[in-house]
Amino acid sequence: MGGGAGGGRAARALRLLLLLVLALAAVEYLFGSILDASPLRTYLYTPLHNATQSSLKFTEKSLQIWPKKFPFTATEDSTKNLTHKATNSTSNRNSSKEAANMTRQSLADNGSTPLLITKLMDGIKNMVTTEDGELKVSEPSMPLCDEMPPDLGPVPVNKTDMELDIVDKKYPDVQLGGRYSPPNCTARHKVAIIVPYRDRQQHLAIFLNHMHPFLMKQQIEYGIFIIEQEGNSDFNRAKLMNVGFAESQKQKNGGWQCFIFHDIDLLPLDSRNLYSCPKQPRHMSASIDKLNFKLPYEDIFGGVSAMTLEQFTKVNGFSNKYWGWGGEDDDMFYRLKKVNYHIARYKMSVARYAMLDHKKSAPNPKRYQLLSQTSKTFQKDGLSTLEYELVRVTQRHLFTHIIANIDERS
Ligand SMILES: *[C@@H]1O[C@H](CO)[C@@H](O)[C@H](O)[C@H]1NC(C)=O
Ligand SMILES: *[C@@H]1O[C@H](CO)[C@@H](O)[C@H](O)[C@H]1NC(C)=O
Ligand SMILES: *[C@@H]1O[C@H](CO)[C@@H](O)[C@H](O)[C@H]1NC(C)=O
Ligand SMILES: *[C@@H]1O[C@H](CO)[C@@H](O)[C@H](O)[C@H]1NC(C)=O
Ligand SMILES: *[C@@H]1O[C@H](CO)[C@@H](O)[C@H](O)[C@H]1NC(C)=O
Ligand SMILES: *[C@@H]1O[C@H](CO)[C@@H](O)[C@H](O)[C@H]1NC(C)=O
Ligand SMILES: *[C@@H]1O[C@H](CO)[C@@H](O)[C@H](O)[C@H]1NC(C)=O
Ligand SMILES: *[C@@H]1O[C@H](CO)[C@@H](O)[C@H](O)[C@H]1NC(C)=O
Repeated sequence: MGGGAGGGRAARALRLLLLLVLALAAVEYLFGSILDASPLRTYLYTPLHNATQSSLKFTEKSLQIWPKKFPFTATEDSTKNLTHKATNSTSNRNSSKEAANMTRQSLADNGSTPLLITKLMDGIKNMVTTEDGELKVSEPSMPLCDEMPPDLGPVPVNKTDMELDIVDKKYPDVQLGGRYSPPNCTARHKVAIIVPYRDRQQHLAIFLNHMHPFLMKQQIEYGIFIIEQEGNSDFNRAKLMNVGFAESQKQKNGGWQCFIFHDIDLLPLDSRNLYSCPKQPRHMSASIDKLNFKLPYEDIFGGVSAMTLEQFTKVNGFSNKYWGWGGEDDDMFYRLKKVNYHIARYKMSVARYAMLDHKKSAPNPKRYQLLSQTSKTFQKDGLSTLEYELVRVTQRHLFTHIIANIDERS
């Protein structure tokens, strides 16, 4: 950052030039595919463009899924080189006229091609320049999903004990690692669901059986991460969530933008309770059956909560110091308050959850003492000081299983 106006102008010029190249590529692509030739590859490997070979990486696989995804990424360096070539290539362009001619001909033959062009152009328009000047193409072609997807409302829960193997088979649309993105539209939200976990085998299957259909209906892109604590120290929910945040970021190229920290024993009862991250941190589980669907106290932030990447990193994540039950969520509330966020909530009729039965754990006697320090010490306790031993990461069908030893090391 701090490149100033000159940098901005350069970035704009860069983008324009790249657009031009892509537009030509689009024309050539149409030309190629209609004649059943190998499309972009042919284009890229023609002598005119041979210099761009090294900077553009298309694999056979990515060509096949075109135009669903436009797998183009380029580093700053290679785009600069690319634009030089592009400037040159536009001046001696005879073949493009031919290509245009062919395209026009083919268009007459087949009514479906204009759609393709539209999609291609959408793809090109979706190209964005990040602040670093890095050029990327976001996932194009499909329309954005509706802001409020259809058929949302109250959903039943099934609290019957069930086998994970059976639940596994019920959701073939979920991809390895418990990931999903809507097939027919581009998701508006990329959400990592972070679930701290220990000794709740029977809850896990019930949770996954409930959450997958619930989230799929919301047309979001998501992944479910189960973060299991190894070792014998007291359960440390907050630190596990920090681990979940860090590890889920490692797993996804480009990163998740929204994090929902979720107790495994809470099941949402209304799919209008959208699992997304608004401008302010959102407390999701405001209305729980076991608490008579009432908010126990105004500042509560426990159970299920949603924060953006920015919000979460700005408060340095959760504290790592809460061993045993309680306090860590209030600690997060104080952090958020300290940096002037406000807690958002859905209305009580939407923010409804069912709670599964479980033994209550022993409260942490030190929690009030810790809480009294939060606003002074939170910059020195959290993501910045997170230490753990990653024991294992397993990609299961319905979730990513992360096992970590989070015990304090001397
Ligand atoms: C690019 O093409 C030119 C001639 O058109 C040729 O001399 C050069 O070796 C080619 N470069 C590569 C990397 O293929
Ligand atoms: C870009 O071009 C410069 C020289 O023009 C060259 O040194 C550099 O390696 C090129 N970078 C890439 C990624 O091709
Ligand atoms: C542009 O093309 C001309 C010939 O058409 C060539 O002399 C010149 O070196 C090229 N410039 C670049 C930057 O490739
Ligand atoms: C471009 O086309 C014109 C006529 O169509 C032809 O005379 C010329 O040689 C061509 N140039 C190149 C570089 O192919
Ligand atoms: C374009 O196509 C028409 C008929 O299909 C043909 O007569 C004309 O020569 C073509 N023009 C070029 C530049 O190839
Ligand atoms: C025309 O479009 C249909 C689908 O609409 C497709 O099956 C067919 O292969 C296309 N024909 C050509 C020549 O692209
Ligand atoms: C609840 O789940 C169990 C186990 O998968 C299944 O047998 C039962 O039919 C389900 N009940 C309802 C109401 O869906
Ligand atoms: C996506 O579209 C296909 C074909 O129109 C349809 O069968 C399928 O149900 C749709 N999927 C979703 C999740 O809407």
